[in-house]
Amino acid sequence: MPGTALRARDGRAARELWDLDPEFLHLNHGSFGAVPRAVLAVQAQYRRDMETNPVRWFSTLAEHLPGVRSDLADRLAVRPSDLVMVANASAGASVLYRHLAQRPGPVHVAVTDHGYGAVSMGAERLARETAGSCREIPVPLVARDDEVLDLLARHLATHRTDLLVIDQVTSATARRFPVVEASRLAHEHGAVVLVDGAHAPGALADPVVREADVWIGNLHKFWCAPRGSAVLVRNNPDLDLHPLVDSWGGQLAFPDRFDHQGTADVTAWFAAAAAFDHLEQELGWDRIREHAGEVMQLAEEEIGAALSAAGVEDPVADVGHPFAPMRLFRLPGDRVWDHDAVDALRVPFMNATACIAAFTELHGDGFLRVSAAPYTTAEDIAEMASHGIPTLADMTGRPLERTAS
Ligand SMILES: Cc1ncc(COP(=O)(O)O)c(C=O)c1O
Repeated sequence: MPGTALRARDGRAARELWDLDPEFLHLNHGSFGAVPRAVLAVQAQYRRDMETNPVRWFSTLAEHLPGVRSDLADRLAVRPSDLVMVANASAGASVLYRHLAQRPGPVHVAVTDHGYGAVSMGAERLARETAGSCREIPVPLVARDDEVLDLLARHLATHRTDLLVIDQVTSATARRFPVVEASRLAHEHGAVVLVDGAHAPGALADPVVREADVWIGNLHKFWCAPRGSAVLVRNNPDLDLHPLVDSWGGQLAFPDRFDHQGTADVTAWFAAAAAFDHLEQELGWDRIREHAGEVMQLAEEEIGAALSAAGVEDPVADVGHPFAPMRLFRLPGDRVWDHDAVDALRVPFMNATACIAAFTELHGDGFLRVSAAPYTTAEDIAEMASHGIPTLADMTGRPLERTAS
């Protein structure tokens, strides 16, 4: 089928660029990404440099990191002086929260009910520690962009808001929010805006939201860099941000102070630009994004049909503003789900079917979330539809054993 299997420059299937276990069907790139073999080799070379002479590596690390930041800033089309490296998107959010916690007075925060749990919990802690408030703005799954903006406008008009935390792409609902307009709106009300762009790098052609005061993005998801590589872009120079870990860079200015992080393995940061270049050379990012759209169209049709056959009405969830490489499907059965119950499906489903997907929840509805990566093929989708879905229907029709996740 044209368009549903990507090929590398030498004609190999894209999947050959990764070391993924062929015994499993990998349809959950959105959670933890997957790192191509060539990128792991680049990281391994940096690790060798570190391990063959740790004193040289760590003594010169801060000299090399501005170059790393500058390479990534080029690829993200931002100024190197605005970009710092962090371990992950959660850490990026915490950097802003710690800064705001040190300002005098309470911090009143607004989040949406589609926000990522860890990031929203951090926002709640910030509010608690400053004797402020954290309010959740409920957003219907199907809300279109103008409806989302309307809900935000109403909230901002009626509740003092010092910080708005909003997702560029949501995790639980695989949808996009109008973050540029939301940032402008929040600024009219004097709020600082954190845009959580964890999923955006690699998946969107121009991921950085320059209207946000702070934008965070994971390079270890769709960008396919090694785990532990994420960026924070500060667009508002009034925010004097510090790294979470105090270090010898403490007296330096932003962004240089982030180049000192104590003794830590940051080889992932060094390999992050290589991840982008490798996939550009082997597959091409425009083609990767086009492929994701094609594969998810197929998923809507085939997985949707399999779920319909399992009795699910409207199996492809209307998420208002879809995100090209992820799709959300309604789970079979008539259960009311919560986060823990739905999350508890992940490992038993993988063990029972060798199919890997994410399971999410909003407002008591449970969803199967499927992601497209460059290595995803039409056969993967067909296998999920013919094999994964009938087993899933069987599993969601009986009581679940909860597992720690
Ligand atoms: C929207 C969103 N924000 C933040 C994160 C946290 O990313 P990390 O675990 O890399 O900190 C995720 C992870 O999936 C996410 O989906």
